[in-house]
Amino acid sequence: QSEIYRAGISGTKPLVPVDSDALEAAAGKALSAEAFAYIAGGAGAERTVAANRAEFGRWQLWPRPLRDVSARDLSIEFLGATRPTPLLLAPLGVMEMAHPEADLAVARAAASLGIPYTLSNQASFPMEEVRDAAPAGSRMFQLYWSASDELNASLLRRAEASGCEAIVVTLDTHLLGWRTRDLDLAYLPFTRGMGIAQYTSDPVFQQLVRERARAATPSDAPPVKITPKAVAAGVTIARKGRALTGAGLRDSLRSPLPRAAVETFLDVFSTPALTWGDLAKAREWTSLPIILKGIVHPDDAIAALDAGVDGIWISNHGGRQIDQSVPTLAVLPTIAERVAGRVPIVFDSGVRQGSDAAIALALGATAVAIGRPYSYGLGIAGEAGVREVLRNLLAELDITLGLSGGTRITDLDRGVLREA
Ligand code: FNR
Repeated sequence: QSEIYRAGISGTKPLVPVDSDALEAAAGKALSAEAFAYIAGGAGAERTVAANRAEFGRWQLWPRPLRDVSARDLSIEFLGATRPTPLLLAPLGVMEMAHPEADLAVARAAASLGIPYTLSNQASFPMEEVRDAAPAGSRMFQLYWSASDELNASLLRRAEASGCEAIVVTLDTHLLGWRTRDLDLAYLPFTRGMGIAQYTSDPVFQQLVRERARAATPSDAPPVKITPKAVAAGVTIARKGRALTGAGLRDSLRSPLPRAAVETFLDVFSTPALTWGDLAKAREWTSLPIILKGIVHPDDAIAALDAGVDGIWISNHGGRQIDQSVPTLAVLPTIAERVAGRVPIVFDSGVRQGSDAAIALALGATAVAIGRPYSYGLGIAGEAGVREVLRNLLAELDITLGLSGGTRITDLDRGVLREA
């Protein structure tokens, strides 16, 4: 905090805007129209996006002076370890839209602040490369439960082998939301071969692609030589397709390998048939802690406990899945009460400032996850931009804690809140 103010005294301008609306506006200028629409957008008329934000206005913080708050500590206990801050990075797919270094830059920024990074199943780099970019960083792997159990098992094996600390299974995307901005731009990054690096680097997925490409090749055509390297190379061509437009793009996807990879991805990336009963399989595939992301109903939180999971992640995907959905902050108190400390609760959707994080923590969240804001920092200034967004959030959280009369995160409870 004092570092940030001192930089101001010396006239050093911030790298990214401090105000969260200004940050979003700056990202709007830095990114392509498609990338910004994809990242900033929500489902339908974006009423869930707005409601997530509005809900924070229902709570006020109650300042308490004269309590000696000169030594403050933002650390929390999470999944059996002490973390220096209560922030986590939410999984964001297709970050190559924001910056070419995408997940590698994010992983480095997160590691430099000791913030655990949840790496998306739809990331732009394979999880092993993300580990190599920031080997000391704490990572979790986010899984979209694939229609292929073999692929699920393979992804979780790789997550474990590459040092992830937990598996986050996202439950709210068994169907892709009605994303109006993307529909108007006819933009789905995956169909252009972006955001599928975890898949194309996976041996099980490569086998599925080979089977599909073989089936799609007419029997009188000369045999296509399909090696794992060729699959990866083919998909690289498709990824570079974002630089192509119109006919060029269509041509690159017309060659059998990238097209088969994209089509295979679209077939297997999720399954609307998933039920509570299926979750038990994840326990066979991994010994890592399992967190369920996308819980918004208190009964589902209890069902998650009954299923024996290690954590609950309250999220409505940042308002990107259902319009007019319940805002996450509105359901946090009831879920926290029913869970009663038995497992940690991660909270996200709509956190834009340190004071938002303070309110969520006071209402029972163990940790608070950030989504869009760090992608805006990434789009504006790469790794340094991500770092600055996170430092600003932490500085404001630290100030808010101290001004509320607290010195530890556990001091943030109902006692610091008043309903507006
Ligand atoms: C997401 N989110 C997401 N969630 C997930 O489980 N896997 C994913 O790959 C993605 N991808 C993704 C991309 C983009 C561009 C956005 C904005 C969001 C949802 C994300 O993890 C988180 O739940 C929300 O972003 C939190 O809301 P805020 O902080 O963006 O309001």
